[in-house]
Amino acid sequence: MGNPIKIFDSTEELAQYFSTLLADRISETPDDRYFSWVLSGGSTPKTVFGKIVSSFRDAIDWNKVKIFWGDERCVGPDDKESNYKMARENLLDHIPVPASSIFRIYGEANPAAEAARYGEQFGRHVNLVHGIPQADLFMLGLGEDGHTASIFPSNIELFSSRNLFEPSEHPLTKQKRITATGRVINQSKLVVILATGQSKAARVAQVINRLDGWDQLPAARVSPEDGELIWLLDRMSASSLK
Ligand code: 6PG
Repeated sequence: MGNPIKIFDSTEELAQYFSTLLADRISETPDDRYFSWVLSGGSTPKTVFGKIVSSFRDAIDWNKVKIFWGDERCVGPDDKESNYKMARENLLDHIPVPASSIFRIYGEANPAAEAARYGEQFGRHVNLVHGIPQADLFMLGLGEDGHTASIFPSNIELFSSRNLFEPSEHPLTKQKRITATGRVINQSKLVVILATGQSKAARVAQVINRLDGWDQLPAARVSPEDGELIWLLDRMSASSLK
């Protein structure tokens, strides 16, 4: 059976769907457990965060939620490139999630050391299943080159690393990154890939319809072992699907 693909008329409707899904999953979490939510950078999540703040802030028990990141750019937390900064400004500053439940990746630290530290921290705070931390909801984007998190076609081997997080590098800008690997992504209970806009149409079709070269794209390797994968698209990003 294929993975569910939901296509929306607008990013706003997509954001509404994601927010409802998030709120439902958090409320289903037993009271003695935390809900681990892994954030991504990117433009679609920014709209989603706005929706959560405007319409779901009071509907969610934020004391049950722990917040992580699936990737970070190696810059300080106040840099405009920082995924943490984007999430803080658009989400975290506006919801009552305890500061002790926010686990940012230190983009300003040494990338290799930080990947190891963050993986260790992730493993301590997220429920272990078969010895590997199982995120409750892992948000991902899809780059125009087929990347996901910060695993690019040129370093796709990071996807199958034995480590939970790895240092990475953007192939064009050479910006250093830290990224979750497939080991942690595919252990998740629920992975949601969000992609909007015409510029994503060709890659979305390549990955979902398994067109020539699809298996060389990091996004095509996302396949939760015991969990679910849902694609959230808009009409434009879905326009080349068969
Ligand atoms: C990052 C991301 C990255 C992103 C995609 C899609 O930090 O760059 O986490 O994987 O999700 O590039 O980004 P857009 O939503 O902006 O297209």
